[in-house]
Amino acid sequence: MFVVALAKGRFLAPSLDLLARAGILFEEELRESRRLIFQSCDGTCRVILVKPIDVPTYVEYGAADVGIAGRDVLLESRADVLQPLDLGFGQCRIVVAARDGESRVDTDPTIVRVATKYPRIALSYFNSRGTPVELISLSGSIELAPLVGLADRIVDLVETGQTLRDNGMRVVDVITESSARLLVNRASYQTKREDLVRLIETLEVVR
Ligand code: PRP
Repeated sequence: MFVVALAKGRFLAPSLDLLARAGILFEEELRESRRLIFQSCDGTCRVILVKPIDVPTYVEYGAADVGIAGRDVLLESRADVLQPLDLGFGQCRIVVAARDGESRVDTDPTIVRVATKYPRIALSYFNSRGTPVELISLSGSIELAPLVGLADRIVDLVETGQTLRDNGMRVVDVITESSARLLVNRASYQTKREDLVRLIETLEVVR
């Protein structure tokens, strides 16, 4: 028996589809219910449903043996976990964005106010460029911040670009690419090696 941490939200359906292709099936109720723990139909695996940002934490501490999370979340959490596979879905970019027509350039000496749900990624990006920043940590609707004067720029993920377009914003710079990754707890990889190697090999084929 091993435990898989899955992210609620946009990653849930593709994660369940991937596990299904690997022969790990769950009752249909999983997609709708408010329950947070489910057993696979064959009893070999248990799924726990957590917030996307928390997936690396559950895996790092061994509350889950494996997890599925975006590279964006992993970079932000800096969790000490194994990352054996890119799972081939959830492709997006982490970008710096600003309002259309905003004319600030990075060499302006004043501090840039940056709204983000990725404070570590944002800080490391601006530090590496020597740009002084004031970070404003938000947990969602990041694109709103520049529209109401809360920030000059945002650091956020862009998938289709629709949210930026609908809010009159543009990409200023791409920080990095992201996609869904398989995470594995370091100790579990030793103690449940046979099960986890089989899972990784199967996922590599069906991803
Ligand atoms: C994410 C992200 C952007 C949007 C990008 O937000 O923070 O706002 O998706 O997707 P797009 O490029 O396809 O428009 P999410 O939907 O997770 O909601 P949130 O605002 O609550 O973070």
